[in-house]
Amino acid sequence: DKDGYKHFMAKEIAEQPSVLANALSAYVTEHGIALPDPGIDFSKIDRLTMVACGTAFYACFTAKYWFEQLAGMPVEVDVASEFRYREPPITKGTAALFVSQSGETADTLAALRYCQGKADKIFSVVNVSESSIARESDLALPIHAGAEIGVASTKAFTCQLNVLLLLALKAAVERGRMTQDRLEDILEGLRAMPGTFNAALDRDADFSSISSRLAESRDVLFLGRGLMYPLALEGALKLKEISYIHAEAYASGELKHGPIALIDQHMPVVVFAPKDSLFEKTVSNMQEVMARGGKVVLITDAAGAEAAGEDVWRTVVLPAVPEVLSPLLYALPAQLLAYHTAVAKGTDVDQPRNLAKSVTVE
Ligand code: M6R
Repeated sequence: DKDGYKHFMAKEIAEQPSVLANALSAYVTEHGIALPDPGIDFSKIDRLTMVACGTAFYACFTAKYWFEQLAGMPVEVDVASEFRYREPPITKGTAALFVSQSGETADTLAALRYCQGKADKIFSVVNVSESSIARESDLALPIHAGAEIGVASTKAFTCQLNVLLLLALKAAVERGRMTQDRLEDILEGLRAMPGTFNAALDRDADFSSISSRLAESRDVLFLGRGLMYPLALEGALKLKEISYIHAEAYASGELKHGPIALIDQHMPVVVFAPKDSLFEKTVSNMQEVMARGGKVVLITDAAGAEAAGEDVWRTVVLPAVPEVLSPLLYALPAQLLAYHTAVAKGTDVDQPRNLAKSVTVE
């Protein structure tokens, strides 16, 4: 039941602090990471291949940055529908990881079967533990998000990120790339995340006021760099699927290679830019947008808002978090902007046209 919320999606967005706290209690103790043993020694694995569809793919894409930066691990990511027909060579020393909320997505399952007998290890990150993908994996790690009813994935995404980050941290430790102190710092930040989410949810009115303007647009562009690039892709997907507004996402640095031609005063540009190591670069891309009359919606933290200057059309200030944890927090604005825009447009938020919760056919 909707627990008094207007839509399942609203409920599922709002319950993320408690859902995440629950997921964390399963996998992080006071002694550190307590994931079930994936049966993989990451120091012996040469390559990780991650495959999924839609939002689950964007979780994998985010995790690619984590595995590379934290664990120094070569990672390949692909959408399942391409992967399964590409005939990708799977060399010895490859672990294959499949991410799926439902565990029944036809393309993801076919990609998993393609890897059977080729990859050293097949594991999955799922929400439904009794699913085909879970059953056919050597090990399935549940994300503990609880049932997700809204077609637009929200809490499953943040819980997928949580498990993938913990796996990347585990890989970093096993590959000798992380000190105990640094690990403890990151885990401390993760333990604080439910509270941080609550503080971000307090900004709900900011998102709904921006969304009333987004609802009038024909197109919306999302930009981000580094860890915020997959988030920009996720923000655009969320907006498309429930508000039916055309949205695209680009890595900010790609702007001048084409999409900047689209910029005018009619196209809002949502920029995800916490004050991280790439902030200056993102801001300079943002200024290129503003110089061409583009209306920028900047999602940042207090330091970022101060450094960005005054010409930004709308700014939403979120709590500051360690850079590595920013994808978890910035999932919220991606979800809230889409949700409020869809509500303003009066679309069927939980059952958007042409979409199914679980895509069990090709
Ligand atoms: O059940 P899965 O995670 O395998 O589903 C994958 C996609 O179909 C799913 O994430 C889809 O993109 C959502 N509607 C996104 O909100």
